Amino acid sequence: MTVQNSKIISLPKFLDSRGNLSFAEQFTHIPFKIERVYWIYDVPGGETRGGHAYRDNQEFVIALSGSFDVLVDDGGEQKVFSLNRSYYGLYVPNGLWREMRNFSTNSLALVLSSTSYLEEDYIRNYDKFLTLRIK
Ligand code: TYD
Repeated sequence: MTVQNSKIISLPKFLDSRGNLSFAEQFTHIPFKIERVYWIYDVPGGETRGGHAYRDNQEFVIALSGSFDVLVDDGGEQKVFSLNRSYYGLYVPNGLWREMRNFSTNSLALVLSSTSYLEEDYIRNYDKFLTLRIK
């Protein structure tokens, strides 16, 4: 898997004077079956989240509110995506190192995941990630 496999995916948006609406359906907009949803909020300024890779889990990250950056890294190349609208998200395939940083005040990150939470699926050590990539 390389950073070229991660990509921004636009979601439908219904613009309305009453307020806007967006949605996402598995397989139609999200390229996997959604097994889990989690969200990250109240992030103090300067904090970095999600410094890890998953062996199996795929994710789709949406900035529901505010803004933040997602860095993806395949061990050779890095790419930074700025998320700041709720009508698109970033697809992060399994096997990539990823970090979330530069959270704005009151930002809200919604993450759709392809697997249930499993600590064994995490690679939390960057050097180990690099060794596994070489194999
Ligand atoms: P962690 O994945 O380390 O957060 P981040 O990727 O943002 O650095 O998760 C923080 C804690 O929350 C950790 O103790 C595991 C727990 N957790 C769950 O129990 N279920 C989940 O779905 C997630 C994402 C985390």
